[in-house]
Parts: sequence; C-alpha cells; structure tokens
Amino acid sequence: MTMSLPRRQFIKLSTLTLAGALMPRWAFAARSGNALRIPPEWTGGPLTAAAANLPIWPGHSTAALALNDHVPGPTIRLRPGDLFDMEVVNQLNGEDLVLHWHGLKAPAAFDGHPNQAVAPGGAYRVTFPLLQDPAFCWYHAHTHDLTASQVYRGLAGAFIIDDPERDAALGLPTGVRDIPLLIRDWKSNVNFALTYNPSMFEHMWGYLGDTILVNGTPEAWLSVDQGSWRFRILNACNARVLRIAFNDRRIFHVFASDGGLTGMIEPVTELDLSPGQRIEILVSFADLPVGESVQLRSIFFPITAPMGGPAGPRQGDPLPIMTFHVDAPGNASALPVSLPAPVLPDEALARRTRNFDLGVVNGQHTINNQVYDLDRIDFEVAPGEVEIWQFTNRTANFHPMHIHGAFFKVLSRDGAAATLPTDRGWRDTVTVYPNETVRVVIRFGPRPGLFLMHCHNLEHEHEMMQNFAVTAPQPPPLQITSENNEVVVSWPAPSDGWILEQSDDLLDWQPVANAAELSGDRMRWRQPLPPDRQFYRLNMPDTL
Ligand code: C2O
Ligand code: CU
Ligand code: CU
Repeated sequence: MTMSLPRRQFIKLSTLTLAGALMPRWAFAARSGNALRIPPEWTGGPLTAAAANLPIWPGHSTAALALNDHVPGPTIRLRPGDLFDMEVVNQLNGEDLVLHWHGLKAPAAFDGHPNQAVAPGGAYRVTFPLLQDPAFCWYHAHTHDLTASQVYRGLAGAFIIDDPERDAALGLPTGVRDIPLLIRDWKSNVNFALTYNPSMFEHMWGYLGDTILVNGTPEAWLSVDQGSWRFRILNACNARVLRIAFNDRRIFHVFASDGGLTGMIEPVTELDLSPGQRIEILVSFADLPVGESVQLRSIFFPITAPMGGPAGPRQGDPLPIMTFHVDAPGNASALPVSLPAPVLPDEALARRTRNFDLGVVNGQHTINNQVYDLDRIDFEVAPGEVEIWQFTNRTANFHPMHIHGAFFKVLSRDGAAATLPTDRGWRDTVTVYPNETVRVVIRFGPRPGLFLMHCHNLEHEHEMMQNFAVTAPQPPPLQITSENNEVVVSWPAPSDGWILEQSDDLLDWQPVANAAELSGDRMRWRQPLPPDRQFYRLNMPDTL
C-alpha cells in the first residue's frame, strides 16, 4: 500500500480550479518539497497496526509501523454524541499494543492503560459514546515501556470530534479550509527509516529528529488562496517543543485548544507547543500576492542543555515546518466576532492541593522521587471534587504534563496568572518549563477506574508517570420531607457536580430547574407538593 493519499488536497485544488486561477499542474511538479498529504478518514471497520514500508521520502522506502497501512494513521472524524466503536488489531511483530485516545473522555476500560495491551495476533474492541464538545484530539500507542518507540515509528493519528454546522454558524472555516497538521520530527539520516534507537543522552533529553514531517510529509507545502484558513495543529513529536511562527512574523489567531473552543480569538506571532498539545489557529493570506509563499517554522528558543549528545538540531534550534504557496486570489473572511467560552472549574471550590515534584533520581525521571510502577496506584481522586494539582519542575528540561480522564484549567506559572496562548481553555497537557511551578484546577467526572498522569516527552513517559484511581461516584444521601404543603429535598453540602433530578416513573429523569439553596451545612430545594408521585435523585452528568 501507499502513503496517505492527499485526498482533501485534490478536493481543494479542484475547488480552486473552478475559481479559474490555478497554476498549471507542471508548476507544482517543479516545486521543491512535497504536496502536503492528508491522511484518509476512518470509515468504520478495524484499525490494524502492522509493519510497513512506505514512500515517506520520495525515492526511498521507509520502514515504519503503520495503522491500516498509513503513517500517520487514518483520521477518525466523529460527531459529539456519536458512539465510537472500533476493533483494534495488533499485527505487529513481537510487540504488545494498546492505543490511547488522547483528549477523549473515555471510560477507564477503554482509555488505553498499558495494562490493557494485547499480544501480537490479538485484538480488542473499544466502544464508548463521545460525551464532549467538538475538539481536535489524537490517538497513539501507549504500550508499557514501548510508547516512545511505537509512536516514533508511526503509531499515531488524528481524532476530530467535529461539528461543521456549528463551526460554519460561528464563522469558522470548515471543509477544505480546515486542515489538520500533525507535526513530528524524525531522523532522516538513519537510512530513511523510522528507527528508534536512543542513546543514553537521548533517553535523558529526548529523541530529537533533524527534519519535520507534517502528516507524514517531508518538506511539505500546501497550495492556498488568499482567503482565511483554519489549521488544527498537533505536536506529535516524541520530545521536541515547537515554537511555532511564520517566517514573516505574520499574526495568526488562536481560538481552540486541547478541549475545544477557548472563547478567545487571540492574535499572536508565536507560541510554544509541547508534545501532546493541540491548538487551532486562523490564518489569512490576503496580504500576500498570488505567487508568493510563506513558511511555518519552529523558531529558536534558549534552553540550558548539557553539552554532548548527537549531532543535528537540538532542543530549541530552528527547523522549517512547511510552506504555504499562495496560488489563487481570494477574500479573507472577517474573524468571528465572538466564540462561546467554556465553563471552566472554579479554583475557589478546590478543597485540596496535590503536589507533584518533577525530578531526576539516579538518572531516571521521577514524580515525587518515584519512577512509574505499572502495579502501584499512586493516589485516588473522587469524582465531582475540584482539586488543585501543582507541578514543580526541578530539572533543566521541559516536562509537558498530561492527565488522562479529565481536562483542566491552567491557573498560574510561578505564582503569576497563566497567560500563554496554550494556557487557555480546557487543557489536557500543560508545559512545565525548566525550574517552574505550574498550578492547574481539575475536576473528574463519574468515570471510575485507573487513569494515568505523565510527562509527554515520550522518553520520560515510562518513568515520569503515575497511576491514579478515580473512585466510584457516591451520591450524598437525600432526605425528602414534606412541610406545610411543600416537598423539601435536602442533602449534605458541599456536593460539587451533583445535580438534583426528578422522575415520575424512575425511567425518565429530568434535572430540577430551580436552584437549590445552601442552608447551614445542607443543600435544600423546595416546591409545592406535586399532585402525583415523584421520585428524586442526585446525578453527576458526564460532560465537560
Ligand atoms: Cu498522549 Cu498518556 O498520552
Ligand atoms: Cu491522554
Ligand atoms: Cu519530562
């Protein structure tokens, strides 16, 4: 089989042809680099991981691990509320496999914990409803001690929870103007193979490549018009932090993050994106004459890394990402006036703080001086309770900390309000810069079971990781009484996340409209005695 076909690229080119302004096809062939590949979309059926030789670099056959014969794997595009139902098949040679749905609120049983891996020749089924807002997520291997190696060799893909009608109504580009960009680095000098072979130095500092692949395309370019474009950007590198900017320092607008819309349309000229993080941006090329091009790059940033290590670009060194060729006239659409803002957890409701010290002990990356143990549960959290998690980086490297099972809000960096473009909205991965302390506020929903928290520098992941258990939701006991022709329902406060519901048949439950009031140490709700029998319960809905 071949690489991902540039299907949407063809659609877009034919759209531009209709506009009558397309460059002749031979001109594309003369361009240096390669047309951006767009991964095929998953249309149901099994997702099979297997070794493959792919023409990633034209003229070379690259040994990789593919999903349904593609690197990256097929893009999974579903709608909020859809049932995600897939069989994952492991046809790897001698390697266990489990996939994690990064950014999806999966039940613990389908989250891709390393203890769920299946042996070669095995398969397993994943099935759960997508109970969350539209968002740009991804999926990747999460096999015990093999995550870095399997992701580097190709086992990753995009997962889009999509609502194009909503987005069109909000004035966001959709369809052919909405392009996912999975950015990763690779070592092109290792015989054009995706060979994972880190040295001691690279185990500590990360396995960094010398070249960027976008959607599996080296030296990628995309033909655009002068209109407005939406790019969904994922840093799928093992360890490289990208400082994303255009070479002409043009302004672009950030409007969505790991968990979806941030409620902001923030103009920036550069931003840091760590492994695992996503950002969605709006870019207009209206100011560039047809025939011009502009380059997306990772620009230089300083980091105090030790001497030594392999040749090639180090962490913080500049690298080209891809080129946009403006091939057709067009009109930039106005930016959306406003976008709906997510309701983020309130720090004031937090009743506890957990501290996570990120360090190095005996040459291993640790959390609170411990390396990961597959069989140790490091702590428990109760669904519905709001908590502060504080990460303190005691090292000279970046640690993008990722939490499974819930999104969070970034509160502060070294005590000051968190204001990076990648701190907005619901996050599942936060960059903790060298020697920095970052606080986030988090609240888990009613999905009990075992989840992970870890550094998304994948060379650190297998050590700098913890298991935590979300306990089963325990509704506070309800007391139902009648006083003076009123029914009074009360329960102990505080009770974050619990919603009072009523039913007359125990089947169809409706949230009770009017708010309960805090009186003393109890929540109290009252209404005139209903004419018919009513049942009441507290429920914790599983939504963002
Ligand atoms: Cu994207 Cu546990 O990782
Ligand atoms: Cu995850
Ligand atoms: Cu790390």
